[in-house]
Amino acid sequence: MSEESITLTDNRSGKSVTVPIEHGVFSSQGVRELDPGLFFYDPAFKSTASCSSSITDLDGVNGILRFRGYPIEQLAEKSTFLEVAYLLINGELPTPAQYEEWVHHVTYHTYIHENTADFIKGFRYDAHPMGMLVSVVAALSTFYPESKQIHDPQIRMIQAIRLIAKMPTMAAFAYRHSVGLPREYPVNHLTYTGNFLRMMWNVADPNYEPNPVLAKALDLLFILHADHEQNCSTTTMRTVGSAGADPFISVAAAASALYGPLHGGANEKVIRMLHEIGDVKNVAAYVDKVKKGELKLQGFGHRVYKNYDPRARIIKKTADDVFAVTGTNPLLEIALKLEEVALSDDYFIERKLYPNVDFYSGLIYEAMGFPMDMFTVLFAIGRTPGWLAHWLELVQDPEQKIYRPRQAYIGPDKRDYVPIDQR
Ligand code: CMC
Repeated sequence: MSEESITLTDNRSGKSVTVPIEHGVFSSQGVRELDPGLFFYDPAFKSTASCSSSITDLDGVNGILRFRGYPIEQLAEKSTFLEVAYLLINGELPTPAQYEEWVHHVTYHTYIHENTADFIKGFRYDAHPMGMLVSVVAALSTFYPESKQIHDPQIRMIQAIRLIAKMPTMAAFAYRHSVGLPREYPVNHLTYTGNFLRMMWNVADPNYEPNPVLAKALDLLFILHADHEQNCSTTTMRTVGSAGADPFISVAAAASALYGPLHGGANEKVIRMLHEIGDVKNVAAYVDKVKKGELKLQGFGHRVYKNYDPRARIIKKTADDVFAVTGTNPLLEIALKLEEVALSDDYFIERKLYPNVDFYSGLIYEAMGFPMDMFTVLFAIGRTPGWLAHWLELVQDPEQKIYRPRQAYIGPDKRDYVPIDQR
């Protein structure tokens, strides 16, 4: 028995069970010993640890985020997105030779089958790029039928590389479709993020080189988004993956969850909110409306962080580098005032509502020229290695089975069918 434990007593039977507390959780197995027909009622899984994981350590009370033990601040300052992707997927930082091989593989899998690219043409000119991305990722599953062999480690790894490599290509193709520009195909001499910027913005310049400051800033933003333990989209990835689905379909499902405005769609909403506020002098009135429950302050609050989101702190610093190149975003002043007012107001203090990753990221994306509906797509590119790392962990975890929660049934008791003409 470990030193920490919890004792539960069933008042109906008088039976007690003492369950060890390990890693901050106690196992439902102990509770099932009291009564195998008894379940926790935990809507939205607020108090449920659905798995054990060695990928991301998130301490929301103290505002700490680590990938495989490495603090996010160090990775943001010293690493690259592809190196972080390697770390998440493989568990360790690569040696120089491993890194070179990894970058080579990702670089040489950036093309997508022309038929997949042609699907994008079929969408309406104003289709949301996230809708296009989700559909094309799902379609990729049919182009790689071997990906269904999820118990083969080599096959698993090649799909992970394909997904990381192809996400920017699909994202940029979706954008080009929405503005009526021809597709710009990947090149092999640029970095992962530089190549993405080229596919987004290049028009008829064979020597196009991305701005290095912007490429570095976007790479950093991808790092910050790379994983965040059991968030809604990652839980979706694990749920769909637990049924034995291939990684393309599982990533499509995860990206669908990310599409929701409460998850990855929030940075788009932040910019819309800042536009709506329009001027620093309107901030106080806006905050009053939030306090009355009429609105939510977008980019504020988090299920796990009850402290300043460390990613928001890093992004805020990066904004200066980006604005030095692009010119400042006039919305920044409103955002800073909003943060100042909110952080000194009892409503937000009592509820421990702080800026999250989305509060400042949209400002940077907008300054870089990304339209608002591409923001969630950028989040999806960054989060792909995290989704895959969780999927890889799941399929190798002997304790995992198909996800199948129970419910508290609150519907009608048995009643007899009444023919329609007698109702
Ligand atoms: N503005 C105003 N009040 C808020 C906000 C907000 N942004 N977020 C939470 N609250 C209030 C909420 O009304 C509740 O108040 P009360 O106790 O009086 O009912 C209290 O704070 C607790 O909130 P909750 O809704 O129980 O918290 P949750 O853990 O279910 O929701 C959240 C977390 C992120 C969905 C929510 O804070 C929110 O909707 N924030 C705005 C959207 C946003 O920024 N989302 C991005 C999250 S970070 C990126 C990611 O991980 O995807």
